[in-house]
Amino acid sequence: MIHIKTEEEIQLMRKTCRLAAETLLTIEPYIKPGVTTNRLNEICHEFIVTNNAYPSPLNYRGFPKSICSSVNEEICHGIPSDRKLRNGDIVNLDITTLLDGYHGDTNRTFFVGAPRAQAKRLVEATMEALRRGIERVRPGARLGDIGAAIQGYVEPRGFSVVREFCGHGIGRNFHEEPQVLHFGKYGDGIELKKGMIFTIEPMINAGGAELRILPDKWTAVTADRSLSAQFEHTILVSENGCEVLTRLEATPF
Ligand code: MF3
Ligand code: CO
Ligand code: CO
Repeated sequence: MIHIKTEEEIQLMRKTCRLAAETLLTIEPYIKPGVTTNRLNEICHEFIVTNNAYPSPLNYRGFPKSICSSVNEEICHGIPSDRKLRNGDIVNLDITTLLDGYHGDTNRTFFVGAPRAQAKRLVEATMEALRRGIERVRPGARLGDIGAAIQGYVEPRGFSVVREFCGHGIGRNFHEEPQVLHFGKYGDGIELKKGMIFTIEPMINAGGAELRILPDKWTAVTADRSLSAQFEHTILVSENGCEVLTRLEATPF
């Protein structure tokens, strides 16, 4: 069952999503060569709890930290550690906040120091793919339109779409229906209705789409160890289109 949010719930979702977005904005200046992903985790944790919220990943199905940090060939669900980021790395930070009973979920991939050409191409294409997916969201569109727009943008550029993880409905639950695939066909899937809230979060690989899970049971990496990038927004289907709940006026994306 896909939950259609009431006006009261939408207000609460706007608040938690804004906090998640502000967490990403707050952490950005700390992402520099030499910083550990544990330190980034700590700063985000402090910011979230200081704002009377809880970091949803912490203890979620046994996840041990407050954010996910995924470096280079790591696709998603990387666990913050004593690893120091290095010049030329790319790192995705995925933030989910639980505020007043509602979850807000957003992530982006950052450059550490000076980006290499291939990393820049991949990260920019992934951001544009999410933008094109979001552009499809309006009442009457189909879930498949989103995946088709993403897949149709990245594959001609030689990149691939990860199949095992998808976007998701979100609200009182971190993950709820529907599943939002990042590949598919125009016209397929359920019809989007006003009041639905879900994430779109394409994971795009520079090489093949296949993945492996590391022995820590969480970190997904590309099977060929090629780079992987991701961007995520939480989106409300509105009267005439959509509202990107995790987008801040202050940031272009
Ligand atoms: N934030 C991730 C998502 O976009 C989920 C992380 S689950 C965790 O759906 F347990 F790894 F935190
Ligand atoms: Co998500
Ligand atoms: Co997320």
